[in-house]
Amino acid sequence: MIGRVLCAILVAGVLSGPLAAQTVLLGDAKRGEALFRDCASCHQIGPEAKNRVGPHLNDIFGRKAGSVGDGFRYSDGLARMGADGLIWSYDTLDAYIDNPKALVSDTRMAYRGMKDATDRADLLAYLRGFSANPANIPESQPTARPREVELPPETLAIVGDKAYGEYLSSECLTCHLRSGGNEGIPGIIGWPVEDFVIAMHAYKRQIRPHPVMQMMAGRLSDEEIAALAAYFEGLE
Ligand code: HEC
Ligand code: HEC
Repeated sequence: MIGRVLCAILVAGVLSGPLAAQTVLLGDAKRGEALFRDCASCHQIGPEAKNRVGPHLNDIFGRKAGSVGDGFRYSDGLARMGADGLIWSYDTLDAYIDNPKALVSDTRMAYRGMKDATDRADLLAYLRGFSANPANIPESQPTARPREVELPPETLAIVGDKAYGEYLSSECLTCHLRSGGNEGIPGIIGWPVEDFVIAMHAYKRQIRPHPVMQMMAGRLSDEEIAALAAYFEGLE
């Protein structure tokens, strides 16, 4: 198949001549091909690929989320992410494959997530081979990068103060309906605390694209996010 994805990076000013290119291994595409078994029950990739349970994954790098066409029906959440401007890049794919729900809360992709960063780097190296313009993909070293939506256990362990959450919630309820209804703006009540916390941190770190929510979440401390999560979880 496509073998390893090797990238040549010029070390300017250090070496010169034909041997100036240094070869950097960006994830092992061969290993990635084997890891794609995790996805193959739902996704196809390659020349004959069609939409199945999930959309085909050709040209996924640089593709707008939720845009494959051919009648594929996305969840409202993924369609909304696309409308907000989410483009599949190394970072957004890494976050989605790591934990699909952290990026798109109501995604229909029933996949637990691939937790190992090296596995994801290898899988992405494999997927990259099916994108028309891999040169557009940033050539940073994937495994050196922190996982954006991975939260330290201490952050997830914070027990939110519901009364404080109620106090903070008034601002949120100028947009989100207290009834939990979904009219243009998604409902946010009754979510498990952890999903809520991860979603808020994904906005805070600008992994999720919406500018208003990025601003809202950016102003909140870890304790405030935990308090809001505890308060909204308890609402009916
Ligand atoms: C159980 C079936 C299933 C498995 C397993 C699965 N997916 Fe998906 N995937 C889906 C569905 C369904 C969607 C559409 C989700 C939505 O609309 O919210 C999707 C969406 C996606 C998208 C977004 C595509 C777009 O057009 O915006 C990517 C990228 C993706 N999956 C990659 C993967 C990768 C990589 C794996 C393996 C690690 C994987 N998926 C495993 C079912 C699956
Ligand atoms: C000015 C309007 C507005 C305010 C104020 C606001 N939100 Fe949002 N919120 C939105 C919109 C619009 C979305 C959908 C964004 C998207 O597409 O990602 C959203 C999405 C969310 C989501 C993800 C929902 C999902 O289904 O994925 C959460 C969680 C959330 N908001 C929590 C809050 C909290 C907590 C506050 C208060 C601190 C707040 N929001 C304040 C407009 C607002």
